[in-house]
Amino acid sequence: MQIQLLRQRLEDLEADAAAVVVWERTSPEAPIEPATAARINTLTRNWLDELFRSGEFRGKTLEAALLHRPPELKVSRLLVVGGGKRENFGSSELRKVAGAALRTLKSKGARSVAFLLLDPELADPENVAAAVEGILLGDYEPDRYKTDKSERKQVEQVHFVVSEARPAAQEALERGRVIAEAQNYARDLVSEPANRLTPTVLAERARQVASEYGLECEVLDASRMKQLGMGLLLGVAQGSSEPPALIVLDYRPESPTPGGAHLGLLGKGVTFDTGGISIKPSEGMEKMKYDMAGGAAVIGAMRAIAQLKPPVRVTGFVPAVENMPGGRAQRPGDIVTSLSGKTVEVLNTDAEGRLILADAITYAKRLGCTHLLDAATLTGAIVVALGHVNAGAFTNDEQLLNRVLAAARREGEKIWPMPLDEDYKDMLKSPFADIPNVGNRWGGAITAAMFLKEFVETTPWVHLDIAGTAWLEESKPHLAKGPTGMPLRTFVRVVLDWNSG
Ligand code: BES
Ligand code: ZN
Ligand code: ZN
Repeated sequence: MQIQLLRQRLEDLEADAAAVVVWERTSPEAPIEPATAARINTLTRNWLDELFRSGEFRGKTLEAALLHRPPELKVSRLLVVGGGKRENFGSSELRKVAGAALRTLKSKGARSVAFLLLDPELADPENVAAAVEGILLGDYEPDRYKTDKSERKQVEQVHFVVSEARPAAQEALERGRVIAEAQNYARDLVSEPANRLTPTVLAERARQVASEYGLECEVLDASRMKQLGMGLLLGVAQGSSEPPALIVLDYRPESPTPGGAHLGLLGKGVTFDTGGISIKPSEGMEKMKYDMAGGAAVIGAMRAIAQLKPPVRVTGFVPAVENMPGGRAQRPGDIVTSLSGKTVEVLNTDAEGRLILADAITYAKRLGCTHLLDAATLTGAIVVALGHVNAGAFTNDEQLLNRVLAAARREGEKIWPMPLDEDYKDMLKSPFADIPNVGNRWGGAITAAMFLKEFVETTPWVHLDIAGTAWLEESKPHLAKGPTGMPLRTFVRVVLDWNSG
């Protein structure tokens, strides 16, 4: 899809469709806002005003109405999309509005779309980047394996119509494209079924990303893991005939800040989670191909970071395994020794994410990472706690958490802080080993995070449990059903803002 900034008068625009955002109107007498919407109302002889008065359209977030052959305009169709209340409107809302506009117009067969950012307040760089992201993320469909392409519609060209062409807006457009394409790349990895995306294939994809965008890539295989003593990662892997891989992607800035941080991004890469011997019920098990969504977000984030070149050292770690109940699978009660030396009693083989991440965390610390962020579809319990709206955030460092929360807010990715005080540690006691891999029934997302914390020790760290947010159960006006790619933008934003935080 071609995306460009275009400086043009409203009346001169030529496209299959134009889209404009309109804010909620506080009363029937209140002005229609922003100014571009008011101008459109005048040009179309009060069409918008009538629309509001009919009560059919109130400007609520992502409400939409379509006008054919708008008078005084050359575009064939005009779509108005509600932006909600003006005081709540920001780049996160604009991202969604752009996505919803694109999806609506694509479904109606438009091939060229003009998205109006004529109001200066809508055209600042942050908004331009968000709008580009909204368009590209909204365009994405996880339909690669549908062979009948006859019904497929495609928007080929999007113009962001601005009143002033500023270099900062052009830069923002390019940054938005890099980030959204990386996120769609991550979504593609997540949609791949487990027969096509094994740990070996995931490692191969990471190698391709590295060579295309200029990252170092190292993949540790099972024999190297054995040599190092990664007993937790190997224990999970041994039930599958697919070999495991620990993927390491390294970004080294050309001119790093002296004495600066070395960030480690970790992502759970379980290409399929049957549960192992503690096998999951068959209903819904097909969804467990998304158990590598954290890993995909890390690979995607590294791809964007390689292109955006921030002055911070960042290394991505993705422990990749398939959790299967094979003849050599680990059993409940098995005791395994981690890379850190701590022993773990595996009470439930379905709590595998924390096992593989624990060894990856120790490895990241050994490579010198000063700060750690991880994303993992770790527990069903976080879905019980927060639903499909927020990811849960756990930390041993409030300052780092604040960076993550600020980044997430700015990027429109919802994250909510969860507790992690030492009292929860009492729930992780084993009579036979240093620590069990599960607690009791209660607070499951917290005990999972607590388990990770035992391996993180004092390194500043934030853990994001994305089990409820990495996969969209139903499509939304601005997003297709399926993988979301979250929290890729938050990761990238934390890195880009590192030195200003
Ligand atoms: N991958 C699952 C968590 C999950 C559940 C992700 C639902 C997405 C949707 C994880 O490996 C798991 O099975 N966790 C167990 C832990 C339990 C055995 C302590 C769970 O949440 O049930
Ligand atoms: Zn599991
Ligand atoms: Zn899992």
